[in-house]
Amino acid sequence: MKVLITGGAGFIGSATAKALMDRGDTPILIDNFNDYYDPAIKEDRVKIFLKDYKKQLKLYRGDIRDRKFLDRVFTQERPEKVIHLAAMAGVRNSLKDPALYADVNVMGTIALLDMSVKYRVKNFLYASSSSVYGNNTKLPFSETDNVDTPISPYAATKKATELLAHVYSHIHQLPTTGLRFFTVYGPWGRPDMALFDFTRAIFAGETIKVYNRGKMTRNFTYIDDIVSGILTCLDKNLACTVMNIGGDKEEKLTRFIAVIEEHVGKKAKKKLMPIQPGDVPSTVADIRRLRKLGWKPTTRIEKGIENFVAWYREYYKI
Ligand SMILES: NC(=O)c1ccc[n+]([C@@H]2O[C@H](COP(=O)([O-])OP(=O)(O)OC[C@H]3O[C@@H](n4cnc5c(N)ncnc54)[C@H](O)[C@@H]3O)[C@@H](O)[C@H]2O)c1
Repeated sequence: MKVLITGGAGFIGSATAKALMDRGDTPILIDNFNDYYDPAIKEDRVKIFLKDYKKQLKLYRGDIRDRKFLDRVFTQERPEKVIHLAAMAGVRNSLKDPALYADVNVMGTIALLDMSVKYRVKNFLYASSSSVYGNNTKLPFSETDNVDTPISPYAATKKATELLAHVYSHIHQLPTTGLRFFTVYGPWGRPDMALFDFTRAIFAGETIKVYNRGKMTRNFTYIDDIVSGILTCLDKNLACTVMNIGGDKEEKLTRFIAVIEEHVGKKAKKKLMPIQPGDVPSTVADIRRLRKLGWKPTTRIEKGIENFVAWYREYYKI
C-alpha cells in the first residue's frame, strides 16, 4: 500500500514511515525541512534513522501549501491513503506568529484535503492535538467534550483542522480520522519539547525552567505507542472521527524530571516559573475510543525516558 506522509522528516512522521516499511507498505514522504527547530535533525532522521530503507523510501522536498507541488506528487505516486502530520507545531511559538500557524496548519490542510478528494484517497488521517481541550477542567479529556475554547493560536488551528475534515467527510464522503496526540516523546524527538530540552540542559549543567512551579501533569505518550495507534486507525478507514492517543498513566512533571535525572546520572538545577500563556496545567486522555479498536499503550516513562537518553548519548556522542 502506498501511503503519503506529510511532515515525513518530522519526529512522528519518520517513525511512522519506518513502521510502515517494516510491515511492507510504501511511504511517500513530503517535508519542507523548515527551521522551526534545527533542520539537521530532520535530515538525520532520513539519513541515519531510516538508512536501512533507502531503496523503499521516496522523499519529496516541498511545501504542503504549494498546490502545484502536491498535484505533481499525487499524480506521480497515486497514494491510497494519507497521513497528514506536517504542521507548525508548538503551542508557545504560535503566540509569536499566529498567521503562519493558520497558513500552514489550516490552508495546508485544505490543500491536502482537496488533493485527497481529487485523487480518491481511501483514508485521510491527520494530526490534531490534546491542546484542543484548552482549559477544560473535566478530566480525563474525552472526545465527546466540548472543545470550543482553545487558548492558543496553535490549538485553534488544530480545532479548525478537525472542522474542515468533518466538512470533507460530509460533502465528499472522504473517510477522515483526527488523532489528538498527547505529549509525544522518545528517540529522535523534537528539540523544542521538554524531554529534549531538559536532557540537554542537565547534561550541560544548565538550569531548567520548571513551569507552573512543577504542578503539571501529562499523559506522556511514547513514540512507538503513537505509531501503533496511527497504524490501527490507518487500517480501519473510519468514516469521520477524532481519537485521543495518550499514555494510560497521569504523570507529574516532577516525576518526569526525576526519571531524566536518574538516566542522565545528574541532578537538575531547577528554576520554578509561573505557567506560560497558552499552556495548560493538565492533559489527561480518555483513551477508551481507541482502545475499542484494539490499541493499547505499552511503554511507561521509566522505559521510554531510558530509551530517549540512550539515543541522546549516542546521537550527540556523550
Ligand atoms: N509531538 C507531539 O507531542 C505532538 C502533540 C500534539 C500534536 N502533534 C502534531 O503532530 C504532528 C507531527 O508532530 P511532530 O512532533 O512530528 O512535529 P515535527 O515538527 O517534528 O514534524 C512536522 C514536520 O512537518 C514539516 N512541515 C512543517 N510545515 C511544513 C510545510 N508547510 N510543508 C511541508 N512540511 C512541513 C516540518 O519540517 C517537520 O519535519 C504535527 O501536526 C503536530 O502539530 C504533535
